[in-house]
Amino acid sequence: MKGIILAGGLATRLRPLTWVTNKHLLPIYNKPMIFFPLTAMAKAGVKDVLITSSSDHAGHFAALLKHGEDFGLNLEFVVQENPKGGISDAIRLGESFAKNQPILVILGDNIFTFNLKNSIDRFLQRGKGAVVFGVKMATESKQYGVIEVDMEGKVKSIEEKPENPKSDIAQAGIYLYDNCVFDYIKNLVPSARGELEVTDLNNQYVKEGTMYCEMLDWWVDAGTSFDELLRANNLVAEKVKKGEII
Ligand code: DAU
Repeated sequence: MKGIILAGGLATRLRPLTWVTNKHLLPIYNKPMIFFPLTAMAKAGVKDVLITSSSDHAGHFAALLKHGEDFGLNLEFVVQENPKGGISDAIRLGESFAKNQPILVILGDNIFTFNLKNSIDRFLQRGKGAVVFGVKMATESKQYGVIEVDMEGKVKSIEEKPENPKSDIAQAGIYLYDNCVFDYIKNLVPSARGELEVTDLNNQYVKEGTMYCEMLDWWVDAGTSFDELLRANNLVAEKVKKGEII
């Protein structure tokens, strides 16, 4: 399995912090944000990882992370020419890197410590399809993709930021795909906000009946607002002080 971490986009919701600095290099308590998806890749045993970012910032990631030796990873970097092309546009850049293997995609602003390994094993045993990771939200699931799941954990629908969410399960930015993903991306057209959406990609697997949902424990999308960025910092500070993470 190969890994792709997305670290592009314009991060307009976090300006002025992100006028000059890439969002994924902002601090989450004692480390840069991108260390979380990198650690998740390493823990899951996914060694070959591609980082996608914008032309302004690709060099910053290379300077910080080099070849990935500190994480035990082999890192490669690629520039997404349109920084707002969408999540599926960024995933598309990994086609030759993936070499027909399944992929684990993690959005660079997702903060979590869940070990993905068992979920990956279940996905590989099924041999095809995809997995989306979900999180139960007490409130505000409508600012995310919202997942409707059946009793067996199979996904019935995913809606992007719906006005009336069908469930309280938010779609995290962690996805497993078989090697059909790049063909499915070719079917996509830009959404109303001009992006190739991950939800439109995922719904092709839902339609095919091969999309499953795995649940996470705690998770923060640190890129959505200053409050969520602060919440991620506070949660991580608490866990570091308790010795749950380093
Ligand atoms: O984090 C979970 C949410 O991520 C999901 O619930 C939504 O279904 C999904 O659409 C996405 O929503 P956001 O509106 O929060 O996506 P955002 O534009 O913040 O981008 C997410 C990450 O992907 C961020 O780390 C930047 C990166 N990105 C984004 C775009 C649009 C890229 O690398 N390239 C891009 O073109």
